[in-house]
Amino acid sequence: MARTFTAVVFPEANRAELRQLIWNLLMNAVQSIPEKGTVEVSLKRTADPVGAALDIRDTGSGMRKEVLQKVFEPFYTTRERGTGLGLAIVRRIVENHGGKIQLESEPGQGTVVAVWLSTSPRTGLITAHAVSEVEG
Ligand SMILES: Nc1ncnc2c1ncn2[C@@H]1O[C@H](COP(=O)(O)OP(=O)(O)OP(=O)(O)O)[C@@H](O)[C@H]1O
Ligand SMILES: [Mg+2]
Repeated sequence: MARTFTAVVFPEANRAELRQLIWNLLMNAVQSIPEKGTVEVSLKRTADPVGAALDIRDTGSGMRKEVLQKVFEPFYTTRERGTGLGLAIVRRIVENHGGKIQLESEPGQGTVVAVWLSTSPRTGLITAHAVSEVEG
């Protein structure tokens, strides 16, 4: 499995929490891919309000509406060895930073998770884009 990680700096946010946020979302994206697919990560500055938009896009299994409605609930999982805490933690971190999170998913097509977090106007944030081929 090939993976690319890009260093990201969000000065206003807690570093360990952000690492956890990105890790949880990347794990979900990778785990959703049954055989072969891609995970695409992009990071862009936003001007109004000042912040950073992180998009994680996978070509995995996608989710039905009934699943999508429950994913933020603690202990909700469809995976055999899942704890169901990944997205609950992600949502708590986003809320702690006054950010936003949105999920779009199409069964059989894939999922896009869009996170927005505020950053300081003088942040050294670098726009980044990475695509990884995943083969399980
Ligand atoms: N990118 C994704 N593609 C498809 N389904 C997803 C994706 N992300 C989350 N899900 C669905 O949402 C459920 C909850 O995700 P969450 O990360 O909270 O828990 P988990 O991945 O099951 O377990 P854990 O993260 O604790 O190991 C998953 O079981 C899965 O059904
Ligand atoms: Mg998870």
